[in-house]
This record gives sequence, structure tokens and C-alpha cells, in this order.
Amino acid sequence: METGMLHLHNVLRWVILILLLVTLYQAFAKKESIRSSSLWLMIAAHTMLLIGLYQVIAGRFGILKGLPESVPSLMKDSFYRFYWVEHPILMVVAIVLITLARGKVKALNYKTAGWLLLIALIFILVAIPWPFREVGVNRAWFPGM
Ligand code: HEM
Repeated sequence: METGMLHLHNVLRWVILILLLVTLYQAFAKKESIRSSSLWLMIAAHTMLLIGLYQVIAGRFGILKGLPESVPSLMKDSFYRFYWVEHPILMVVAIVLITLARGKVKALNYKTAGWLLLIALIFILVAIPWPFREVGVNRAWFPGM
């Protein structure tokens, strides 16, 4: 279950990034098709939120498991600070922005939706544990690599 959730979380990142880029383009190009893409993006982002909440609460390094004895302080440990604080907070903000953007699309305010999506994209790119990030925090491009 834990591994399946982690793999899904990894793959869904690519789905969200692709949908986000498509929706972003459609927002600034004022394409009607943004109505469905922004909905799919929001569904994918909310699914990611649920999986992420499961991981940070009940996952293999989740809060319910507690901090290991070797880690006396959360904020002084780069791994736990990233996965319990930085990554969840930045991603939740990005998901809120994606949700707000969907509301703007429904109100036919495509330009504002575009700016909200651009900020969400920046937050997500900053918060993903890319393979080139610091050792410990970094993760693979795809599951099982
Ligand atoms: C757009 C939103 C998100 C993206 C793109 C994203 C992306 C990722 C990626 C690529 C990983 C590494 C997966 C792997 O090791 O194969 C990861 C891990 C993780 N994410 Fe997210 N994430 C998002 C939202 C969230 C949220 C909202 C939470 C918590 C509320 C969260 C909590 C976690 C945790 C705890 C891990 C580490 C899990 C483990 O190693 O067991 N994520 N995330």
C-alpha cells in the first residue's frame, strides 16, 4: 500500500505538470478548451493532496511514526523539515492556487487564472524533490528508478 501510494504520487507529478502547462497556455491564449483542462487539473491536484496527506500522516516517514531518536529537532533535520514542512506547505498553497484558478476560468477571467497557474507552477517546481536536489531529500524521475 505504502509503495503503491508513493509510486502514484511520483507519476501523478508528471500528469499535474503536463496539465498545468497545457492549462497555462490555454489561459493566456484564451482558449475555450481551458474549461475541461482546468477541471482535470483540479481533480489531479486534489487527488495528489489526498495521497500526500496520507503519506505525511501515515506513510513510512509519516507523523504517526514519529521522529527517529537520532533526530531530536524537526527543523534542524533537512529530511524531515523538507517532507513534513516545506514540501507539504508549498504544495498545499499550489493546490489552493490551482483551485482558485479553476474558479476564475468558470468566471471567464482567463488572464487572472493564467497568473494564478503560473505562480502554482513555480511553487510546484521549487517543492518537487528532483533527482538533482541535495542528497537525502532528492528522489527519482520515475517510480522504481
Ligand atoms: C502538486 C502537488 C505535489 C507534487 C507534484 C508532489 C511531488 C512529490 C514527489 C515527486 C515525491 C517523491 C516521490 C518518490 O519518492 O518517488 C513526493 C514525496 C512526498 N510528498 Fe509530495 N507532491 C505533491 C503534494 C504533496 C502534498 C500536498 C503532501 C502532503 C500534504 C505531500 C507529501 C509528500 C511526502 C510526505 C512525500 C515523501 C513520501 C515518502 O517518502 O514516503 N506531497 N512528492
